[in-house]
Amino acid sequence: MPSPLSPVIALALVALPLGFGWFRSPGPLPQPAAPLDNGLARTPPMGWNSWNHFGCDVSSRLIRETADALVATGMRDAGYQYVVIDDCWQVARGRDGRLVADSVRFPEGMKALADYVHVRGLKFGLYTDAGRRTCQGRPGTYEHEEVDARTFAAWGVDYVKEDWCYAEGLDAPALYARFRDALARAGRPIVFSICEWGSNRPWEWGPATGNLWRTTGDIADRWSSVLALLDLNAQYALAAGPGAWNDPDMLEVGNGGMTDDEYRAHFSLWALMAAPLMAGNDVRAMSPETRAILLNAEVIAVDQDSLGVQGMLVAENAPDLQVWAKRLADGSRAVVLLNRSGLASAMTTTWWRIGLPAGPARVRDLWARADRGTFTEKYSATVPPHGVVMVRVTPEP
Ligand code: GLA
Repeated sequence: MPSPLSPVIALALVALPLGFGWFRSPGPLPQPAAPLDNGLARTPPMGWNSWNHFGCDVSSRLIRETADALVATGMRDAGYQYVVIDDCWQVARGRDGRLVADSVRFPEGMKALADYVHVRGLKFGLYTDAGRRTCQGRPGTYEHEEVDARTFAAWGVDYVKEDWCYAEGLDAPALYARFRDALARAGRPIVFSICEWGSNRPWEWGPATGNLWRTTGDIADRWSSVLALLDLNAQYALAAGPGAWNDPDMLEVGNGGMTDDEYRAHFSLWALMAAPLMAGNDVRAMSPETRAILLNAEVIAVDQDSLGVQGMLVAENAPDLQVWAKRLADGSRAVVLLNRSGLASAMTTTWWRIGLPAGPARVRDLWARADRGTFTEKYSATVPPHGVVMVRVTPEP
């Protein structure tokens, strides 16, 4: 008869594979899948997508004007590269099996539009759906994976977002893998953006299948939505890395539903989480405040850091007062002091909390764009309600 395990050994056997042992919440760990090897999105993709601001009101003219504005405003040079048309560009499937673009809204067709975008040093993206129809009822890619991948490649598409509407009863990991393989066969480097809203545990199979995968439902242009998506996306930090990113959905910065403090917080947290930075506003008509947020090079650098770590929540000193930190390639830490409450609050982080040894470290405030000095074990600041202070802490040699 086998001898019963001692309770201590039994507990250790259960806890050891969990890595951090006792601190982790129970439940299955993400399965480390081999990363998709298309060589793309080594840092989180950046660009613009039509959906958040324009919905179905997309046209050639909008895309051309947006491409021009991305160049004129300096957004392209700041890293916003992909110009992506979301739902509603397609109206039918032709007799040859290919998707047909709306000829009234896109009279010159997608190839000519992609050329226009490419000439401006930008890249071109389109939306489709892995199911039978898109969320707005347009033709979906289901059972047309090969022809759609070839069509997109022939048009010069560099980025495909694939949604998950009208997919009842279908197998998400299998269908996204099928389109991944069709894209690979089509022979053009295409960033693959999986959009099934976190409904089939994409953090487990996404890294082997796409370059990014949504972890949440759709964002809305309000503070409660930013916080809800932050909390969801934060759970899967260990699945992210170069070429494979958690996607808490596109940016709402500049769309009018939040204060500038809230938009700064939204942008800071997305950067800290190494989220894709897809602007979702009308870049042809941005306020100076919106521009200053989207074009903050030091915050963008945190998002685009080559180490590819997704930052995490490291302290909650009082309800609603959170410290988030991200390790960067040069050994420094990006830190977001997040005040979720409605009252301005003094907040502090210690070096210990952000994974640095005690000792002198330089603190740079990324929104004030000011050096705050050298501190030896902690940093404190007053954080506005529904806002952040974001700093970079660099240990001195
Ligand atoms: C879904 C997606 C959104 C957007 C719309 C378009 O809701 O999650 O990001 O693409 O469809 O219909």
